[in-house]
Amino acid sequence: MRSKAVILFLVLGAFTAYYVYSPIPDDIEERWKLMLTDCFFRSLSHLADFSELLGLKDYMGVMMFVTFAERVVPESDEKVQVADELFDGVDVVVYQPKHRRGAGEKRRAIIYLHGGGWCLGSSRMGPYDLLARQMVTELNAVVVSVEYRLAPAHHFPIPFEDVYRVIKYFLRLDVLEQYEVDPGRVAVSGDSAGGNLAAAVAQQLQLDPEQRIKLKVQALIYPVLQALDLNTPSYQQNQHMPILPRTLMVRFWSQYFTSDKSLYWAMLANGHNGPESAAFLKFVNWSAFLPESYSQAYNYSAPPIGGSESSEPLDNLSHSLTDPRASPLLVPDALLRSLPKAYILTCEYDVLRDDGVMYVTRLRQAGVDVTHQHYPVGFHGALMFTMWPTDFKIAQRMINNYILWLQQNL
Ligand SMILES: *[C@@H]1O[C@H](CO)[C@@H](O)[C@H](O)[C@H]1NC(C)=O
Ligand SMILES: *[C@@H]1O[C@H](CO)[C@@H](O)[C@H](O)[C@H]1NC(C)=O
Ligand SMILES: *[C@@H]1O[C@H](CO)[C@@H](O)[C@H](O)[C@H]1NC(C)=O
Repeated sequence: MRSKAVILFLVLGAFTAYYVYSPIPDDIEERWKLMLTDCFFRSLSHLADFSELLGLKDYMGVMMFVTFAERVVPESDEKVQVADELFDGVDVVVYQPKHRRGAGEKRRAIIYLHGGGWCLGSSRMGPYDLLARQMVTELNAVVVSVEYRLAPAHHFPIPFEDVYRVIKYFLRLDVLEQYEVDPGRVAVSGDSAGGNLAAAVAQQLQLDPEQRIKLKVQALIYPVLQALDLNTPSYQQNQHMPILPRTLMVRFWSQYFTSDKSLYWAMLANGHNGPESAAFLKFVNWSAFLPESYSQAYNYSAPPIGGSESSEPLDNLSHSLTDPRASPLLVPDALLRSLPKAYILTCEYDVLRDDGVMYVTRLRQAGVDVTHQHYPVGFHGALMFTMWPTDFKIAQRMINNYILWLQQNL
């Protein structure tokens, strides 16, 4: 009896160890904590798959648990005044310094876009709330955190359009006046899918002939920037990395565009491009835009272009795939040239590393001033891990460096 229990215990232990253990590179700090955190995310993902299979709740519906679990009700405190508002019909949380520093002194502003693959996340999650407060107090800034609508209930371009409406509304003299913001000191920023939206709105504002007030800077934290090539060296190198494995990123991309599962399978095989993509592949050619240290271990081959009949359900989507509002890397140099100064954060252990690095190269070639901060032991999503029990030292380092850059450039 006793020995049976011991055996059962050992088997369970081995199974748990096998399940928890994920091949996390040795140089990542707080490895075991990351393994456990990742184990939680993987378990949730399996549960979500299972739930979808049983027809209970769809995958993203279950994954939303993370968003709900970290949800807070942002409230004013002794330093920061917080209010829920509608900017042109879009839900935003506005954080402002409670105390004026000097009479008539105008403040900076940051429009912040949360991450979560366009499908998850909320400006009302603990880590985003904390980050906004830190920005308000350290930068004496107004922070507008945008609660854009999410896929799959609202596919592209709705999340983009929500953000664009907020920016257009905020960048009006009367509105800036109301919040005592200096029109020359407004930034757009976001992490992951929020970085995608930030890059996209920065580009579209430049194209808008009626837009008088411009953004001063854009700060992109491990942004997603292109949907054409999902086999860049970083996608290959980091396909099983914690927090954002390649399969999850592919799921986010496909669900941003459609609930049709065939796009997911096509993207997983990197075979989702139709004839429309052909003219755009040169903008994401990683053998041209990545430093040799990243590209040399991999052999470049352009993603295949499918025939129109082979990708029938995707035909409808080919315009979305090559739309720069979804993939900001797909614009010609002439459009990049006029973009605001940029801060781009990338992590080594991230499928999206090369999206960010390629944008750094392309923006610099177009003459834009770019600060590139690369974290050699960084992993995707790290900036969010500021709260116990999933607090990582690297998160605070990232936030401090990011805020310092804003301090010096906004
Ligand atoms: C990609 O870039 C390399 C190096 O610049 C070049 O030789 C190759 O023809 C390019 N391929 C495509 C599809 O643009
Ligand atoms: C790249 O191509 C070379 C020459 O064909 C081959 O030896 C090497 O194994 C390839 N590397 C990868 C990562 O596929
Ligand atoms: C294709 O586009 C049409 C018109 O925009 C739309 O009505 C239809 O639902 C789309 N089909 C799919 C599969 O997305």
